[in-house]
Amino acid sequence: MAIRNVRQIGDSILEKTSKEVKEITPRIRELIGDMFDTMYEADGVGLAACQVGVLKRIIVVDETGDMPHVLINPRLMETSGEQTGNEGCLSVPGKHGTVTRPNYVKVLAYDEELKPFELEGTELLARAICHEMDHLDGHLYVEKVEGELRDNTEDDEEEEDDAE
Ligand code: NI
Repeated sequence: MAIRNVRQIGDSILEKTSKEVKEITPRIRELIGDMFDTMYEADGVGLAACQVGVLKRIIVVDETGDMPHVLINPRLMETSGEQTGNEGCLSVPGKHGTVTRPNYVKVLAYDEELKPFELEGTELLARAICHEMDHLDGHLYVEKVEGELRDNTEDDEEEEDDAE
């Protein structure tokens, strides 16, 4: 497993639509492992494959640091409520902004054996899932920021618990 280079805003790969995963190959297993390594190394809450340059519909999310989720070909089944809060992205370093997201989501996704499962999340997990799923369709949270995109200060970095 290895840390991969995270693509930064301005890189056109972040604006592309990722493709469905049809089969799990050794390369995909390696990619998923590397995505976790890369996310944890950067203290992120989630990462989409396109952020490491691979246009496949794979996201990893871990909102607590010890609850790793892999979602392959995720589909949003249900949302409810609303939450407004800070969001960041490993592809937009040093910045954060206010984004409104559903407070609850239910997704249908496939695991590393391509078996379907449902995942429900609220609050930070719901936010992270929505943020990462946007990446699969070429969208960054900066498009949804209410008001200004702000620079992180050292104080923010300490408080930041929702950088993705
Ligand atoms: Ni992101």
